[in-house]
Order: sequence, then structure tokens, then C-alpha cells
Amino acid sequence: MSVDLVVVGLGYVGLPLAARACEAGLSTAGLDVSGEVVAGLVAGRSHVRDVPDAVVADMVATGFTATTDPAVLGTADTIVLCLPTGLSGVGEPDLSAVRAAATEVAARLRPGTLVVLESTSFPGTTEELVRPILERGSGLRVGADFHLAYSPERIDPGNESFGMRNTPKIVSGCTPLCAKYATAFYDRLVDSVVVSRGTREAEMAKLLENTYRYVNIALVNEMSLFCHQVGIDVWDVLRCAATKPFGFTSFQPGPGVGGHCIPIDPVYLESKATTEGFAFRTLAAARSVNEGMPAHVAERVRGALAERGAPVVGARVLLLGVSYKRDCDDTRESPAYPVTRDLLAAGAVVGYHDPHVPEFAVDGAPLPRTEDLTAALAAADVVVLMQDHHCYDAAALTASCRALVDTRGMTSGAEGVAPS
Ligand SMILES: NC(=O)c1ccc[n+]([C@@H]2O[C@H](COP(=O)([O-])OP(=O)(O)OC[C@H]3O[C@@H](n4cnc5c(N)ncnc54)[C@H](O)[C@@H]3O)[C@@H](O)[C@H]2O)c1
Repeated sequence: MSVDLVVVGLGYVGLPLAARACEAGLSTAGLDVSGEVVAGLVAGRSHVRDVPDAVVADMVATGFTATTDPAVLGTADTIVLCLPTGLSGVGEPDLSAVRAAATEVAARLRPGTLVVLESTSFPGTTEELVRPILERGSGLRVGADFHLAYSPERIDPGNESFGMRNTPKIVSGCTPLCAKYATAFYDRLVDSVVVSRGTREAEMAKLLENTYRYVNIALVNEMSLFCHQVGIDVWDVLRCAATKPFGFTSFQPGPGVGGHCIPIDPVYLESKATTEGFAFRTLAAARSVNEGMPAHVAERVRGALAERGAPVVGARVLLLGVSYKRDCDDTRESPAYPVTRDLLAAGAVVGYHDPHVPEFAVDGAPLPRTEDLTAALAAADVVVLMQDHHCYDAAALTASCRALVDTRGMTSGAEGVAPS
């Protein structure tokens, strides 16, 4: 039996892709190394917020199967790799999941199959890493026997306006024929396909998109530090600047950048630049600013305590919102981790409130969680608004906190609250 599509890696990217494929009428299977992920999906449970359980149930009803058995790869007309591309323990690009999955694919690759890499990585990953693994392991040749393509994912978790279907999809192939097959595949799933000149251009386009965000966030973060020093309300500055109808895109300062993409992807670009002997100066400057933001937040907490003559040791600090993004449950690379580490090291007693995050552990130690926001606000010596989830109310925060460090500008302009 064969299937139209096997999605490898059923996470934030892979599961929505599989869901869209099922919706578009493609017979679809999913492969993941996590038995827990697979068992959940088989039982109709989603682990990805943007894909409700009901959608997984619909997928299963159309014949979708999830498995940990790589044998499913041998049944696919198209294989899309949605593997994590994080950082190693020493902060360098970690392509081990892509390598491992490509090796499994190679062992089962059938002539005529289209293989697409969607994971974010530096230019050359498709041609120089994935291609040799597939060709050596299968004995088949790209362009002649099977097709290999790269198409970066642009999914924005929690975005209700733009999803996979109505976000233009960049598609590229190792050969013109590969690009043609990949375009035909994505034409069935999305409204608009943009074909790039080659795989390296598509890989670099994704890095440009996210580095653009990273650098601009660094700019407003540094602007916020300077405004704080000279007593200017940065949030009002941004509100005013954002009214310019052309030539200005508004980015928001915050306690640091988080998530699986924005803090990580520039490292991939920097690593490639370093390999090529190129000093990417804007990246280095942006990293220094963004990575310094959590320490700045912790410093603001110490300052708020010092203003009231309260010691840091034993101070009760409440973090509001520990996910990296508003109304989202994802805590990957959240700045709440370094902020917590810093405050715990200083002797503070740190707890958190976040309706989206049932558990938050820092270096293996779970942080006390509160559900009773009103009581927690009243009990805390300092409240740190880390994430402006919609459940938080600016007026209630300013009315009930003894001291508030607002890293999101939610209470900008309110009496007695210094925007961070
Ligand atoms: N999350 C986003 O918003 C987003 C947006 C755009 C691009 N991306 C990129 O897409 C890629 C995937 O990201 P994600 O957020 O979906 O990651 P994820 O961690 O949510 O999901 C990855 C899945 O792959 C599985 N996996 C790991 N190794 C495997 C292997 N060898 N074989 C099969 N399955 C394996 C994991 O168990 C996990 O379920 C990354 O390169 C990321 O940078 C992510």
C-alpha cells in the first residue's frame, strides 16, 4: 500500500502540514521518534495548540496514521521532513535529527519519490547534507531517480489570520524538475507558491526573514534601555512612530527573544558566515543586546526592591506569563528561564502564573505555580509582567501590585509604573 505523503516529525510544523494535507484529500501518514506523540495522535489527542483534537479526529477519520516505525517511509510518494534544528550543548547548529531522519529515508527510498526538507537551516543543508545521505544510502540519483526540494515553513503559532494555506510558500528544488514536482505538491496545499532560484536561496530567505525580526527586536530593545535611562516612555515613542504609513515596521521591546526560531535561526546564519570567514556584524550586535535583556529585567526587579528598602533574599517575585509568546503555551527558549535563574541565584523566591503553561521547570526544578491571580498579586513583593497574555488586565495590575516591572508596556502611562 502507498500513501501520497509521509510527514516526518509531527511537531509544531509537521502536524499542521499533515492536517492540511488530510484536508486537501491526500492520503497521509506521520512518522515521529516520540512514542508519546504518536500514541496521543493515534488516540485522537493533539499536542499542538493550533491543531485541535477535533482536527486530529478528522484526520484519523480520513485514514491518517501516525507511527514510530520508519517502514512507513517505503510507502510514500512524497516525504516531508519537519525535524527540529536547534542548538547543541555548545550553542552550535544541531542537525542530528535531520541527519538521522535522512538516513532512515535513504534506506527505504523508492524511485520517483519527492523528498522535501522544511526544517530551517543554513544555505547548503539540502544540497550538501541531505542530498549525499539520500544518494549514498539509496543508490539513487537526485533529479534522475528521485526528487529533492527545500521549502521553508513560515507557520506562526497562534496567528488567526495567516495559516499554512494563505501564507505564500517558498519552494525550491535541487534541479528544475525537482522544483516542478515540489511546486505541484504544494499547489495542492497552499494558495500561492513562490519558486526560488535554488535551494540555497530558499534556505537563505528563511534565515533573512527571522534575522530581520531578530535585528529589529534588538533595535527596539536597545531603544527601550536608552529611553529608560533618560526617562522617555518607549511605548509612547513606538505608538507614535508606528503611525507612519510607510517605511516603518513596528517591533516591540521585551524581556528577551524566545521560541524555536527567532533566537536560534540567526545562530545558523552566523555559523555559516563564520565558516565562510565572513563577520556578520549586525548579528553580533543584535545578539549582544537581545541576550542582555533578561539580566536587565532581573536588575529592574532588584531596583524595584531597593527602592522600597527590601532585600532581594527572600523577596517574593511573581512572573506573569512564562511562554515566549502571547496566549501561547510554548516555553522554548523563553526569557523567563534566564530571568528566573538570575533571581533565584540572588536569593529571591520565584513563582509564576500562566494559564497556558501548566508546568514550568528551570534546570529541572519546577517553579511554584499559582492559579489564584488576585491572591498572588497581593502576596508578591514584585510582579514581573513577562508576557502580555490577554487574560491580564492593566488596570488590575497597577491597582494591586506593590511593585510591577512591566516588560511589555501593557501598563504604559499608568501612574507609578516605570515601563521597561
Ligand atoms: N515552530 C515554529 O513556529 C516553526 C516555524 C517555522 C519553522 N520552524 C522550523 O521547523 C522545524 C521543525 O520545528 P517544530 O517547531 O515543528 O519542532 P518540534 O520540536 O515541535 O517537532 C519536531 C518533531 O520531530 C520529532 N523528531 C525528532 N527527531 C526525529 C527523527 N529522527 N525522526 C522522526 N521524528 C523526529 C520530534 O519528536 C518532534 O515531535 C525546525 O527547523 C524549526 O526551526 C518552526
